[in-house]
Amino acid sequence: MPVIHIINGPNLNLLGTREPETYGSLTLADIETRLRMLASARGAQITFRQSNHEGDLVTWIQEAGAAGEPVILNAGAYTHTSIAIHDAIRGASAHVVEVHLSNVHARESFRHPSFIAPVAAGVILGFGAMSYELALEAVLAGAPQKKS
Ligand code: DQA
Repeated sequence: MPVIHIINGPNLNLLGTREPETYGSLTLADIETRLRMLASARGAQITFRQSNHEGDLVTWIQEAGAAGEPVILNAGAYTHTSIAIHDAIRGASAHVVEVHLSNVHARESFRHPSFIAPVAAGVILGFGAMSYELALEAVLAGAPQKKS
């Protein structure tokens, strides 16, 4: 089983105190703990990282793509703006499942477009921390077969 990379973008380090009515009360560390438990119960290995810097996300996606290892990506607000992340997924042929805690389609219209979705294997959103768990289940089931 390859390593599964869980990559989190800007402001997700603030989870727990950031708009809990939208994002819930779990911290990013809580989400990491839940995913590590789920992964280890399934014999899978994960990395779990967060950065507020777009270039870090680009580099991590390139590395995962080069290694042929799947990515679960919550790019935060970069989802709606970043051609660089779109290009990284595409350029590195990375296998990506896009996730969001909130249902971005039920929120402001500037959150509706995604530069990730067209190059992702699939998108899971709106279920809080469970979005990540469902994405991990999908990856473990071999779901992200689509190459960008
Ligand atoms: C988010 C949704 C984005 O619109 C927002 O900028 C975030 C979090 C989510 O997980 O719901 O930072 O990606």
